Parts: sequence; structure tokens; C-alpha cells
Amino acid sequence: MMQFTRADFPKDFLFAAATSAYQIEGHSFGGAGRTHWDDFAATPGNVVHAEHGAIACDHYHRYTEDLDLMAAMGLDAYRFSTSWARVMPEGRGAANQEGLDFYDRLVDAMLERNLKPMATLYHWELPSALADLGGWRNPDLPKWFGEYTRVIMDRIGDRMFSVAPINEPWCVGWLSHFLGHHAPGLRDIRATAHAMHHVLCAHGRAVEVLRDLDVANVGAVCNFEYAHPATDSAADKEAAALYDGYYNRFFLGGLFKGAYPDNVMAGLEPHMPKGWQDDFALIGQKLDWLGLNYYTCKRVAATDGAWPAHEEVAGPLPKTQMGWEIYPEGLHHFLGWVDANYTKGLPLYVTENGMANPDQPDVPDAARIDYLNQHLAAARQAIADGVPLAGYTFWSLLDNYEWALGYEKRFGLIHVDFETLERTPKASYHALALALKA
Ligand code: FCB
Repeated sequence: MMQFTRADFPKDFLFAAATSAYQIEGHSFGGAGRTHWDDFAATPGNVVHAEHGAIACDHYHRYTEDLDLMAAMGLDAYRFSTSWARVMPEGRGAANQEGLDFYDRLVDAMLERNLKPMATLYHWELPSALADLGGWRNPDLPKWFGEYTRVIMDRIGDRMFSVAPINEPWCVGWLSHFLGHHAPGLRDIRATAHAMHHVLCAHGRAVEVLRDLDVANVGAVCNFEYAHPATDSAADKEAAALYDGYYNRFFLGGLFKGAYPDNVMAGLEPHMPKGWQDDFALIGQKLDWLGLNYYTCKRVAATDGAWPAHEEVAGPLPKTQMGWEIYPEGLHHFLGWVDANYTKGLPLYVTENGMANPDQPDVPDAARIDYLNQHLAAARQAIADGVPLAGYTFWSLLDNYEWALGYEKRFGLIHVDFETLERTPKASYHALALALKA
């Protein structure tokens, strides 16, 4: 069972579950356009079993059942995302009315169940038509993202509890353009530098549009990994500081300090888009909150070779189905560190936390209950330290399409049978329901 109840958290603290559009909706339904994830998945070797999001959890047709399950669990809010390609199949120009109608119904159905809508506008499904134009490398991407922001928020922006433009800029930039693990699967330092900067410009452009539309409670969602040096050597410490730089400090630097970290710019500066220094007023607009996604830590060792000249090595802690070490101390660290160094009193939310486990519907997911207990304890510790943490979001509501790892990695509080699409709440769901109602 859970080792907390609501009474252990501040009054009005929000408990939520998160999903994202491409991972659950079923992108072949309702007139959605093609995305670069469809293209990436159709290319052999990119995704386990070449799996894709054409049907996913069929949330597009089953959303009322999913929202009922959330309400029955006692959640206060739902962090969902809207798909750019569902709203504008070509990325620009004509909107897909069926897609707008879907999000309109979805939001009303949340409100009917007293679930506060927490929207993300980009959780990675870039329309293929924009990928054809260079995707995040194209300096016009922020402008197009602003147009999409206006179209979707014109329709549902009046009913949002909160809105964040981009989910996890590190994944959009580094993971997808330097490591090549996510669509568009590039391994190119110039593309990386451009994407990392343009994604922040797109965030800024969307914030301008949201303010113009009077949308309430605008924030940003970044992901964090604690970087341990693999050994005490000076070289490994420097390597870990660089990992920390491009993972944890680059985007916060842009959003809150108007500057990128020196150790990252030592490698990226020659590859940056022209005039990047002039964009910080756009990027660093006032925000109402920051969301932190947190899962794990890494061990970083220096290597020979080209910048960033380091590698990840295996660590000693117990691991999840992803092979990720379980390190709740990292969550405690980041909450305090972000508040002290960047956000300085702004409300913080944990916008994703959870673990993958090879779950079967009839076997209790004790490992997930344990993981969540440890991380919720870390959050409570941060609150006791004085961090203004206002909510906690579980990743994920449902087992879903875990990107390049396909449907095998199960992150849900609710089991999904991908043959029948049947939903079965797991033991963690029931344990959380008890804790939230107590
Ligand atoms: C995060 C993503 C989310 C999911 C989890 C496991 O990086 O935001 O879509 O893949 O990791």
C-alpha cells in the first residue's frame, strides 16, 4: 500500500496522471496527418518490432472509459497532450475540424468529471510535412508552432487549468538529433544545436500566443537526470558536469537566465544558428510554473574522442524494466536545486514520474508501488524543506506506446491488453485510489 494520504500533502496539492497524444490516441483515426514518428517507425531498426501509434490504446474512441477510471481513482487533474498533426494535418494551413472537435469533447468530459485539464501542445508527433522542411532545424518552426498554438487554444484554451508548450526539450533536441534514438533519428551536431535552440524559441512564441489569448497558467515542462561521475577522477567529474549541462541546465538557462551553460557552449557554439544570442527575450518570458519530469540517474565516464567525449556506464542500484536505476534522491535534489537556482518561488509540479515493469493483469505491481512510495517521500521531503511543490503527476495512466521501445515497456497504472484493448487497473492504481480518498 501507499505510505501517504492526502493529509500528508499541502491543502490543494494536485494529484494527476499523464499521457500523450501519439502514445495513446490511435493516430490513424479522425483525420490526423502523418507524423515523423510514423516515418521513423516504418524505417527498419528504429523501433522494436517496427511498432507505431496507428491504434495505440484507441483512446480516441475510449476516452470516456479512461476518464472514468481517472475520476474513480480520485485524481484531481489530467496531463494530456494535443497532437499538432491531428489539429493541422499538414502542420500549417487548414485545420482538421474532426481533430478540434475531439479535443473539445475530451476537455468537456474532463470537466464533467472534475479533472483539471493540464495541456501540453507538443509531445513529439511533428507533422511529416514539417519534417520534410527540416523539422526542428528550420528557423520558421517557432512561427508555425505559434500558428498551431493559436488554432488549438482558440478552441479549448478557455477551459485549461494549465498549459505547457513543449514536453521535454532535451528529448526534442539531444535525444532525437544527437543520439538519434527518437524521430527524426538524426546524429548530427549542427542539427542538434539548431533543434535545441529552436525548440526554446518555439516555446517562447507559443507563450506569446497563449498570453495574447488570455490562456491561464502558462508553464514549461523539462526532464531531469541526476549525473553521477563514474569515478572520482577529475575527467569523470568534468564529464558528468557536461552531461548535467546539456541535459539539466541548458533549457533552464534559456528559460530563466537568458544564457546557456559555458561547458555546453564550448562544444555547441560553432554549430548554433545565426543570431541565437538575440533570442533570449523571446525564450525567457515570464512563466507561471515549471514542471519537472524525473525518472532516474546516470553514471558518466570520460572517453577519448570528439566532444562531448563521454559515455554512460552501468550503475549498482536496482533497475526498472527500462534498465533505469531507481534513485529517488535525484528527485529531491532537483526540486530544491531548481527552486533555489532558477524558479525562485514559482510553483513547481512533478509532471511525470513512474516506472516500467513487465506487468500482467493478474500479478500485483508491487515494484511500482515501492517506486512511487520512494519518490513521493522524496517530494514530501522537498516540501518540508520549503520547496513550493504544488502537484504530482504519475506517468502513466495507461500502458502505452513507449516510443522506440514499442509496446513492451509497461508504465501504466492501468494494464492495457494490446490485442483486445481491455483496461485492467493494476494494484498500484488501487493503492493510490485508497491513499487519495483517505
Ligand atoms: C518521458 C516521456 C514520456 C514517456 C516517459 C517514460 O521522457 O515524456 O512520453 O516516454 O518518458
